[in-house]
This record gives sequence, C-alpha cells and structure tokens, in this order.
Amino acid sequence: MTHTHETVHVALGDRSYRIEIGHGLLADAGKWVAPMLSRPRVAVVTDDTVGPLHLDTLRAGLEASGVEMTHLTLPAGEATKCWRYLSETVEWLLEQKVERGDMVVAFGGGVIGDLVGFAAAILRRGVRFVQIPTSLLAQVDSSVGGKTAINSPHGKNLIGAFHQPALVLADVAVLGTMTERDFLAGYGEVVKYGLLGDAAFFDWLERNAPALAAGDIDKRIEAVRWSCQMKADIVARDETEQGDRALLNLGHTFGHALEAATGYSDRLLHGEGVAIGCALAFEVSSRLGLCAQEDPSRVRAHLKAMGMKTDLNDIAGALPDADTLMTLMGQDKKVTQGTLNYIMARGIGAAFVTSDVDPKVVKSVLEDALALA
Ligand SMILES: NC(=O)c1ccc[n+]([C@@H]2O[C@H](COP(=O)([O-])OP(=O)(O)OC[C@H]3O[C@@H](n4cnc5c(N)ncnc54)[C@H](O)[C@@H]3O)[C@@H](O)[C@H]2O)c1
Repeated sequence: MTHTHETVHVALGDRSYRIEIGHGLLADAGKWVAPMLSRPRVAVVTDDTVGPLHLDTLRAGLEASGVEMTHLTLPAGEATKCWRYLSETVEWLLEQKVERGDMVVAFGGGVIGDLVGFAAAILRRGVRFVQIPTSLLAQVDSSVGGKTAINSPHGKNLIGAFHQPALVLADVAVLGTMTERDFLAGYGEVVKYGLLGDAAFFDWLERNAPALAAGDIDKRIEAVRWSCQMKADIVARDETEQGDRALLNLGHTFGHALEAATGYSDRLLHGEGVAIGCALAFEVSSRLGLCAQEDPSRVRAHLKAMGMKTDLNDIAGALPDADTLMTLMGQDKKVTQGTLNYIMARGIGAAFVTSDVDPKVVKSVLEDALALA
C-alpha cells in the first residue's frame, strides 16, 4: 500500500532545510542523503534499543545508493545526555575522520538527536548533520528547530548550542516498534501543538488520534506533518527564542517541576509531564478568566480518552506539596530576571506568553490537584 509523502520546509535563510515525512524512508535513506554528501560515507550514532531494531534497514537503504556507513551505539536513556557520552561521541567521530564536508547522522529518539546534534555543533567548529528521529516525540519536536544539548547536575539541557540539521527524515514506519507508553508520551507533544496554536488541529486530533494511536499510518504522517509545520513556522519566526518560540513550552513549566519532583525517573516521562502540564495551564487560564471554563475539561477529556496521564493522581507515589512544586517551577529556564514567564491560553489554540500571573492562583490550582491525588 502506498502512503502519503509530506515535505515541510524550515525557512531559515542559508540554514533552511527540509523535513521529509513518510512511510519506509529508511529503506530509501541513500536517495535523500547521497545528494548532500561530498563523499559517499556517513557516521551514524544510535542507541542500543533503536540500533538492533532498525540499523540494518538504514544501512541497506544507504548502501542502495552507494553510501557506506560506520556506526556508534550508545546506551538508551536520558542519562546518556552527559559529558561522558558527548566526549565519547566526538572522539569517535574524529577517529572516523569526519571532516567539515561530511555528514553525521543522529539515529534515535530525542536523547540521541540532542546529544549528536551538539557533538556535530562543536566538532571542528561545526559539521552538518542529519536527524533521523525514531520516536514520536523526536519526529514532532526535538529533531526540528536546532536546539541541541546535554544535561548538567544543575538541570536539563543546560549545556548546548543552536545547530540546525541539514535534513530531517521522519519515517513513521519505525514508530511501530515503540512501547505504547513512549508513543503516548510523544503524543503529549502533539496535543500541545493543537492547544497552543491551532484549534482545527486539536479538533482533528479529537476525531483521529485514537486511530493514529492504534497504528493508522496516514494519520500518523498527517499528525507529524501538522506538528512539524507548526514548529517550523514558529522557529522561522523566532529561531533563538526571543519571543514566540516560548509558546512551544506550553505545559512545560508545570511538567518540568513534576519531572524534578519525581526525580526524572520512570514515574513520569517528559511527554507525560507535558500533557499533565497542559491540563494545569488550561485550569489556571480558566481560573484567571482568560479562557472558557469548558476548555480545561475538554483538554482533560481528550487526554483521558487517549489513556494518558492527565491528573496529578495519575502519577504513582507521593508528590511534594504545592509550595515545593512552586519552588521547582521557579527553577525553570523560562525565568528571566527573577520573573517566571507562563504560557497561558485564551482558548484552545490560543496560547500566549505572560509574566502577569498571580502565583496565588497557580498555588490554589496545584493545591486542588494535589487534594485529589
Ligand atoms: N531539542 C529539542 O528541541 C527538544 C524538544 C523536546 C524534547 N527534547 C529532548 O528529547 C528527549 C526525549 O526524547 P525521547 O522521548 O525521544 O527520548 P529517548 O531518546 O530516550 O527515547 C525514548 C525511548 O524510546 C526508545 N526508542 C526510540 N525510538 C524507538 C523506536 N522506533 N522503537 C523502539 N524504541 C524506540 C529509545 O531507545 C528510548 O528508550 C529529552 O532529552 C528532551 O530533553 C529536545
């Protein structure tokens, strides 16, 4: 069966690139990558979950166009985004004699994309790289926009650079091997796009997301396309987050506080925190009279219908009190000169950035949510 193929353009002047979205792109990888190479070889970095599942398909897809690949496999998981594996990756790329004209390939989820993108940014003061995102989260979010980073004991993503990929290849076929939990966590970021900027997308998701989650390929392609288009438009307007790009952080200030409160553990995945955070952001917006009272209920109803974590009582184990959560929110990167910037909403699809939020209202929403937990 043939599926749709979509191309999204990220318009950034001489750093513009395309996001190719389709089914079976890995098997054709050479066709997309070979024209960009100065010599027919690439260095691929992956993780030890994705590699055994999909590296052979990628290798064959490159070889079909005469492109040779070498690869490095790193441990799967967030802990890999650290100095040790950054240094291992950079040294390996140097051993492979990767030069300025060569291409590095990040083949994995957001962890590999962020780490390898950063390695490419600093190797020889910058080499080009291709993102081949394999998780839903990476296909709709982390592979697009050029933010690359590793974590520090001081916090997530604190060491990094803006370095745009030269190409993104999003093959939805690989999503078939994801665990349901990881897939739904990535879906948290998909919902976020509808909520922040496009009510029509949220409507579409309410109708089509159950089929998409059940494996409908064309609906997966459409959701990835829509999400990438929204991110591409925002990034083209505001590449380095001086303004609008902050909208992409809807739900993230709450989400990051919850991730910190649960020790960045298996209790709460990033996308799960974002989904709960979106529900909380709409609840605060409603209490501030910014959006209709029905909006938070509609957000929560959709998350629940998808079988996703929606409320604080969906997180296993005890949570700290509202004051502690507020302190954790204050440590978010979105604090500028001591003021926390919130992403609030005037309705579904109508988010905006503001520092004018009464902390008492935020605290009362958290207290009420904790009381039910
Ligand atoms: N750069 C950005 O703009 C940006 C945006 C959002 C998130 N991020 C970062 O992305 C990371 C989270 O991304 P993630 O959720 O992809 O995490 P991840 O890379 O850890 O992937 C999640 C899990 O899924 C596995 N996996 C990936 N693809 C698979 C497949 N096709 N089949 C089976 N298993 C597969 C991975 O091995 C891993 O175990 C975080 O580090 C976050 O900070 C970055």
